[in-house]
Amino acid sequence: MTPTEPRHGARLMQELLDHDTRPVPPVLRAVGDATPATSSVPRARYTSRAVHDLEVDRVWGRVWQMACRQEQIPEVGDSVVYDAPGMSLVVVRSTPDEIRAFHNSCLHRGTRLRSQPGHVDELRCPFHGFTWNLDGSFAGMPCPWDFPHVEASSFCLPEARVGTWGGFVFVTVDGAGPSLEDYLEILPEHFASWDLADRYLSAHVVRVVPCNWKVALEAFIESYHTVAVHPQLLKTSGDTQTQYDVYEGVRHVNRMITPVGIASEHVEAGVAEQDILDAMFLTKDDAAVVPEGGSARQVLAERTRRQLAERTGGDYSSITDCEALDAIEYFVFPNFVPWAGYTTPLVYRFRPHGDDHSAAVMDVMLLEPMPVSGPRPPAAPTRHLAAGERWADAPELGYLGRILDQDTATLARVQRGLDSASGPDVTLARYQESRIRHFHATLGEYLES
Ligand code: FES
Ligand SMILES: [Fe+2]
Repeated sequence: MTPTEPRHGARLMQELLDHDTRPVPPVLRAVGDATPATSSVPRARYTSRAVHDLEVDRVWGRVWQMACRQEQIPEVGDSVVYDAPGMSLVVVRSTPDEIRAFHNSCLHRGTRLRSQPGHVDELRCPFHGFTWNLDGSFAGMPCPWDFPHVEASSFCLPEARVGTWGGFVFVTVDGAGPSLEDYLEILPEHFASWDLADRYLSAHVVRVVPCNWKVALEAFIESYHTVAVHPQLLKTSGDTQTQYDVYEGVRHVNRMITPVGIASEHVEAGVAEQDILDAMFLTKDDAAVVPEGGSARQVLAERTRRQLAERTGGDYSSITDCEALDAIEYFVFPNFVPWAGYTTPLVYRFRPHGDDHSAAVMDVMLLEPMPVSGPRPPAAPTRHLAAGERWADAPELGYLGRILDQDTATLARVQRGLDSASGPDVTLARYQESRIRHFHATLGEYLES
């Protein structure tokens, strides 16, 4: 693929960056030029059981997956259960500095060892009581005289590989694949200015959604749908001005940056800067005036810097308007979506729901900047939304709940359409859906190899 001129959204984003007088991190200036050729996606990718079965083997069995945050298991013995198609792992802090992931199946007759997160002193099977230590070594069973063939010293729980980045715990059941560092490609370099390890988990909400996991994922990695799904955002969010970055030679990572504090080009008449500001501020107490010759973005970014400093005691005076305001959203194949900015410190994760290819589990996390002094705030408890509950029923998500509900409301309809029609393949936009093209190009490589 040859480099091309920066495209529409990238050009507009560049102009916004040029207006900021602060030094802009080089990665924000990067402009993707590698639109993947995949313009269509077979419907079977979203509807076929055979594709799901292939994914279990060739995707979920090979990739690195985000299992939890490190602060969700702060003490030795703290554990979570991470389930993905074809695998279940008990992720446990086995020493203060070591996290391990054990296959969640007893070596006696296969019972699932753990079903819930929680603190354990050892891993004891609830069926007959076979027990393992936190390092996976065998601790014993009732009536050992009846198992003369079991060599206790080698009867260890099988492990998956574990890696950490940005305060996240990653796991893979592939014993022979790349290291996490190699797998993450450009991600660590890009996040050098935004250390997600230096955040704390202020919300974790989980919801089952009625669609294939890829339908859910794809609804959250483009801004093209804003005009139809989130019309209330058009006055304050640059959907068409979004920059999409797909990088030559990079398989697992892509990015978009949606500018905030400017009006969408879908808003016909020009919107005054003061109108944009008024639309962003939710209460009268917040009201502010755009100074002569100034912009809503400048006022909003300054407010973000001030609020961050007040909240954390840190110095945020040098962060750019883009870092302070915009939706800088990364994607890591196949299902991990960390945001890099400060205003909306989101993380998404998408997986099939158990072995069901027509339902998905979506996790939403919020990672707030840490206070400069004092202890690390405890991780928020995980809230599992019940059937019929909405994101807006989770108060810890604040105003984001309503927006996420707008997104989620379309998902069942998309899946139904895909399931019921015998029409042509899905057609993707050249630029605004280039991240979805990139995702399917990489998915195709995994499925075919
Ligand atoms: S199945 Fe686990 S102890 Fe029997
Ligand atoms: Fe959306």
